[in-house]
Amino acid sequence: MATDPKAIKEQALADFSKHISPMKVRTMKSVGLDIIEDRREGASVWDVTGKKYIDCQTGSGIMNVGRHNREIVEALRKALDEYDIGVFLLCSRQKADLAKKLAEITPGDLACTVFGVGGGEAIDAAIKIARGYTMKTGVVSAQKSYHGHTGFALSAIGRDSYKEPFQPLMPGFSLVPFGDIDALKAEVNDDTAAILLETIQGEGGIHIPPDGYLAAVRALCDEREIMLILDEIQTGFARTGKMFACEHWDVVPDIMTVAKSLGGGIYPISATIFKEEIMDFFIPHPFIHLSTFGGSDLGCIVGLAAIDYIRKHDLAGNAQRMGARFRTGFDRLLKDHPDLLLEVRQKGLMMGLQYTNESIGPRLSRKMAERGVIAIYTGNDPSICRLMPPLVITPEEVDFVLNALEDSVKELSKESGLGKND
Ligand SMILES: Cc1ncc(COP(=O)(O)O)c(C=O)c1O
Repeated sequence: MATDPKAIKEQALADFSKHISPMKVRTMKSVGLDIIEDRREGASVWDVTGKKYIDCQTGSGIMNVGRHNREIVEALRKALDEYDIGVFLLCSRQKADLAKKLAEITPGDLACTVFGVGGGEAIDAAIKIARGYTMKTGVVSAQKSYHGHTGFALSAIGRDSYKEPFQPLMPGFSLVPFGDIDALKAEVNDDTAAILLETIQGEGGIHIPPDGYLAAVRALCDEREIMLILDEIQTGFARTGKMFACEHWDVVPDIMTVAKSLGGGIYPISATIFKEEIMDFFIPHPFIHLSTFGGSDLGCIVGLAAIDYIRKHDLAGNAQRMGARFRTGFDRLLKDHPDLLLEVRQKGLMMGLQYTNESIGPRLSRKMAERGVIAIYTGNDPSICRLMPPLVITPEEVDFVLNALEDSVKELSKESGLGKND
């Protein structure tokens, strides 16, 4: 057994390559992110070789409370002294407590919950509930959207390459451009059960809905008796400066999905939260949607601890303040490097840098990694870098990331022979 950190790393990469994914190892190496995570704390993670990184990827928003948050770990440790995951067929105090808390913190009259393990499962449940409740079949979602790789979720996502090998997928799904209310109006019909949207598109490249769009979608859903499903799996739990992103536009969906940061980076759990009247669907079918591990007692205890932490430490406020600090740095870069940076799209600490072309994404990820920052271009588009650091990030850490970005951009600009070379 190797004891030298470099040898441990090489062995882990070789085993990962052989038994899990050679192409993932190759891709990560190519952008200097063949990191084997070891210690984790706050906004930072240490590679097994001891190199420290600020984590601006965070599994696309799993770590809102920070890496290996001690308070959440302690909540789980205490729970493990007494409990296991629980028997899913029985009623449970822990599930009841978390469902009640979710009803309290989500906007408007969202009141009831179906628990799951991951985000895709939460989306599947949302679509099943919408179809079951409305007795209609159509689902309209957005181009460039991402909702996961499970059955219904995969059928809804707006990226063909994830779907092509598995055709035919579920019937009844169609796509429209995100942010275009006229396209949505033209697409819906009397058989449309649901409109499914990320409140802000994450994987697609941090696309923020134009003001008025979500309110118009809400009105369309009311008029045509369509369920509005908002996917807050990336945007939820204070990421954008509000507990849920839809609060920026005062829009309440009929069904909301959450996952990722509900688990505090410690224990997987997801939830599909819906309005009370939709419970009518479950009255004749109480066992129609089951998940053995969904909303386990341990997961619910962790979920409650994560929500408490987010509120107690005002992470929404910190997302706003640190988001504004990032913005000042981005504005400087935009002014100095129009050759590389086209625009920045941002709500709180959900941030997307739009580069001028696709080749910049991988090259900038490598340069950022060399400087101790994990920053990766989005799966849908290498011309966009998505930055989603933990919401506990400090002003000093924001400045560290901005300095790394500025140095990386300057170096790339010089190499490309473009723009200012100072
Ligand atoms: C907006 C959104 N919805 C759904 C999912 C799927 O979640 P999971 O990977 O937990 O199935 C993701 C995952 O990145 C996501 O970003």
